[in-house]
Amino acid sequence: MKIEQRNELLQQMLETELGGVLVYETALLCVLNDELKEEWEKYLEQTKAHVRIVQDLMEALQVMPQETPGRLVVRHIGRSLVDAMKMAKASAPPPDAEIVACECVVHAETKDHANWELLSAYGETAKGDDKKAIDAAVEEIEDEEDEHLYHSKGWCRELSIANLGMKPVLPPPEEQKDVKTAIGAARAKQARTELI
Ligand SMILES: [Fe+2]
Ligand SMILES: [Fe+2]
Repeated sequence: MKIEQRNELLQQMLETELGGVLVYETALLCVLNDELKEEWEKYLEQTKAHVRIVQDLMEALQVMPQETPGRLVVRHIGRSLVDAMKMAKASAPPPDAEIVACECVVHAETKDHANWELLSAYGETAKGDDKKAIDAAVEEIEDEEDEHLYHSKGWCRELSIANLGMKPVLPPPEEQKDVKTAIGAARAKQARTELI
């Protein structure tokens, strides 16, 4: 296993979670739907906790936070998402700005989810105290990251459908069925016509 790449993954994970806090703070300025607002308020608090979980994990693995080139790229993308939402809020009709915020959350959560999935895979091959620390962190956040990604994708799709003048399923089926897996998300999406 490449320890440098594992450490780089941790640097990027820290930046992703830090950027995630800013993404949710900005998305909350664009949200209109009360239930989605409640979800994002919850995700914001969870993301703040994830920052601390990654910091603690890095400490346990003796990895000092560093400004690596990869981390700077993650920061750039995070700031771009924040800028995109601000642009939409300033210039687009509120329902459109809300959809842009949903899209930006999905972008951010796609990276967040992929990071943790990769770390989880790494944890399966790690050993000793490192493995214990990685497995404990993954166990703590796993379900939350699944929810952040799959439920946000559902909100994004349904609000876009509503914006086109078609009938949405709100809250989205992913939310109603409390989806926590990719297969569950696919099933929920397929079942949406029955829920209308
Ligand atoms: Fe996270
Ligand atoms: Fe997340």
